[in-house]
Amino acid sequence: MVKKAVLAYSGGLDTSICVPLLKEKYGCDEVITVAVDVGQPQDDILNAEEKAKYISDKHYTIDAKEEFVDQYIFPLIKANGDYEGYVMGTSIARPLIAKKVVETAKKEGASVLAHGCTGKGNDQLRFEAVFRLTNMEVIAPMRDMNLTREWEIEYAKKNNIPVIATSEKPWSVDENIWSRSVEGGLLEDPNYVPPEEIYEWTQAPENAGESQIVEIGFENGVPISIDGNRLDGYKLILELNKIGGAHGIGRSDLVEDRILGLKARENYEHPAATILLTAHRDLEKLVLTRSELKFKSMVDSQWSELAYYGLVDEPLYSDLNAFIDKTQERVNGTVKLKLYKGNVSILARTSPNALYSQELVSFDSETIDQKDAEGYSKYHGFQARVYKKFLGN
Ligand code: ARG
Repeated sequence: MVKKAVLAYSGGLDTSICVPLLKEKYGCDEVITVAVDVGQPQDDILNAEEKAKYISDKHYTIDAKEEFVDQYIFPLIKANGDYEGYVMGTSIARPLIAKKVVETAKKEGASVLAHGCTGKGNDQLRFEAVFRLTNMEVIAPMRDMNLTREWEIEYAKKNNIPVIATSEKPWSVDENIWSRSVEGGLLEDPNYVPPEEIYEWTQAPENAGESQIVEIGFENGVPISIDGNRLDGYKLILELNKIGGAHGIGRSDLVEDRILGLKARENYEHPAATILLTAHRDLEKLVLTRSELKFKSMVDSQWSELAYYGLVDEPLYSDLNAFIDKTQERVNGTVKLKLYKGNVSILARTSPNALYSQELVSFDSETIDQKDAEGYSKYHGFQARVYKKFLGN
């Protein structure tokens, strides 16, 4: 029987050399490459297609942009998702990429699922959490063989794999429509100040121009409009990346705890995410009760951990989503924000579901008889009073 493998393919050096390695070292007869479009630069997709022509037996480009937005980014917005305080990106795309690889393998009657992740990072775990839901064999040549960059470049040349300036590329970049992540090279020293050139989506905040006001509309917890113009999710995020990027919004530089425990220095850009998460959190404060907000913050943090770990098939993940979705039925309205030199500040918000009542809270209102609060005040701090006053503490 022919041993067919399907490989998650980016077109980079690592995943490219996986193709001949799968044949030479792991006995695969056929290697099918799959590049999943989650909004990375079109050039990356084309480069992967072009390279695949030389090396793989068959190549698929799968457009998963819409699914990525609807099934992964929108749930993240509803959950105010973050990991250790920063915007997640890579983590939420991996399960989707893995699922597309599995679908292709099933369609092609393959028996092997492969990825090019190393044994140090998070992505091996995220891919395999999905791959291992099947009974197919999982092969990870990069992790298995512990290769050096020099060896890889040599091997690529020997196998006629075009190495496009990869040897000079100083950092490793992972990009999708929600976030751009840069790591490796000199950035591995957390005390190294990153040069401007690592950033591509955002301009330096100090060079950003005049402030700009944007209004984001939400329906059921997801963004639906910018300044009153309805846009589908993908276009809306693209547009906010452009607007926010011009104001230098959404850069993060941090030391992150990987799942295995290694600390890593990471740099990110995510203008749309920063704007949307800021607006969403604010709108929730207007419409959810105090108890809901308190409980939901725990749910959100549990959700975020599962999302970072790539454990989207864990039943708890859908349980949490069910709770979150219920709360989001009331997260409707608009939030007005000001973008200025790297900062996003809230200017105003409104919602048909606001729990806020100007009439009740106003100093001029007579709807509430203030004397009613007197009885409440007598009992507030009751136990402390007993402790202090009657027990002489
Ligand atoms: N550390 C992040 C994560 O695991 C992003 C890693 C992205 N990879 C890269 N080559 N920049 O989610």
